[in-house]
Amino acid sequence: MSDKPTIDNNGMYPQPKYDGAETSVAQIRASRRQFIKGVIASGAAVSGGGVLIGCSSGSDGAAIGGVERMVRLTVNGVERTVDVLPNETLAMTLRYKLNLTGTKLGCDRGECGACTVMVDGVSSYSCSLLTHSIRDKAIMTVEGLEAPDGTLHPVQQAMIDELGPQCGFCTPGQIMSAVALLNVNPNPTRDEVRAALSGNLCRCGAYDNYTNSVLRAAQNA
Ligand code: FES
Ligand code: FES
Repeated sequence: MSDKPTIDNNGMYPQPKYDGAETSVAQIRASRRQFIKGVIASGAAVSGGGVLIGCSSGSDGAAIGGVERMVRLTVNGVERTVDVLPNETLAMTLRYKLNLTGTKLGCDRGECGACTVMVDGVSSYSCSLLTHSIRDKAIMTVEGLEAPDGTLHPVQQAMIDELGPQCGFCTPGQIMSAVALLNVNPNPTRDEVRAALSGNLCRCGAYDNYTNSVLRAAQNA
């Protein structure tokens, strides 16, 4: 007997049976079930982590076998108490807990310098510092440079006089690096200014403007 399919009364070859297809659907359903199980399991793990984090702090923020979350910081000469997550960076604390948004976040990984602040007088990338690690240190942001009567810091004023910034995004970081330099070297050479600002990238390429501004600030100080 021939294996060749015979044409039915309508002149059509018989439609293929769907046994194989049904098997595939069953397999897909099974693997999808496995997938959903996996998602739920990993979601539960994440939720569990959240519960643990939540449990690590008492109602007053005190740690229970974990990191003390209430941190006292000295920012721009003022003592502030902040609830800080164990893995929180200083940039996040400054911007989103203390509303000091003059500190910018560019790369968030220690490459651009937009987040530069001073920690105990040293210019530092705030995106690369855990807030918990600097509890006892003095933090200065660009907001803290202005005198109480509103007089700008000489570096800020020189930036205006020299029309230093272009878009301005990198300017707070450039200013903080410049202030940190002038605090230890009030009369820098052009090359010393360049070296001090070398950790601050400027997407607008206003490097000469910034260097001129810092040299002018040094003259006016
Ligand atoms: Fe910190 Fe770029 S945001 S170095
Ligand atoms: Fe635009 Fe520097 S002025 S990034």
